[in-house]
Amino acid sequence: MYNKLVKCLKSVREKTDFVPEVGLILGSGLGDYADEIKIVTTVDYNDIEGFPVSTVVGHKGRFVFGYVGDVPVVIMQGRVHYYEGYPMQDVVLPTRLMGMMGIKKLFLTNASGGLNEYFKAGDLMIITDHITTAVPSPLIGKNIDELGTRFPDMSEVYSKRLQGVIKETAAELGIEVQEGVYVQFTGPNYETPAEVRLAKTWGGDAVGMSTAVEAMAARHMGLEVCGISCVTNMAAGISKTALSHKEVQETADRVAKEFKLLVETVIKKM
Ligand code: HPA
Repeated sequence: MYNKLVKCLKSVREKTDFVPEVGLILGSGLGDYADEIKIVTTVDYNDIEGFPVSTVVGHKGRFVFGYVGDVPVVIMQGRVHYYEGYPMQDVVLPTRLMGMMGIKKLFLTNASGGLNEYFKAGDLMIITDHITTAVPSPLIGKNIDELGTRFPDMSEVYSKRLQGVIKETAAELGIEVQEGVYVQFTGPNYETPAEVRLAKTWGGDAVGMSTAVEAMAARHMGLEVCGISCVTNMAAGISKTALSHKEVQETADRVAKEFKLLVETVIKKM
């Protein structure tokens, strides 16, 4: 796996020597934010040897290098999901690659279903912690000693400092934010009402199909991590209606402007 990462890095470095400080992964509905920054260059996932290429409609597949304010960033426009059929090590390969490109901080975004009954569709939730019990750990397999230790600590996956920056920024912008625990399931199906009840008893506030494993891989490498989830719908059984990708996209589009403003302002202060 490390050799594969080194090959991918070489492939990227043949195209650009840009060194980002912050990595940003864009979730559903946020993809076009990458087009709004000061773009220096882009690298298509297709052009990176050995890179897992995303197949989801609405997800472009490329790294966008550029500046948000004065901050050098790399943005993943389109992420890799476990439900696409890749081994979990491949799902986190792009995260690790961004770490090897030089990022020190990783900003994760996604869409999720609300478990917490105080939430409503359209809420933005600062991720305070996560539960990955329903998916394999991305760290299973031979440890990549070059990246981190065999038994990494996960007691503060989402940096308290960055959570504070997000909260402070949201208050300044007058954007209401929730806080909570994100539970990752495999997807691609939405959960059953029974699974939603289970995730609630586990202590979850929102449920989704990404992010937590990327956060783990980043923490394994010692990166500082934060994340915001857009609660696009109430989870199955809590919501009165059947769930659909269309509903998820419509809500994500509805709050995209606010979400993008928050993400952008936070990056400038990270
Ligand atoms: N479940 C899982 N993933 C999701 C959901 C959901 O309800 N909404 C958006 N992504």
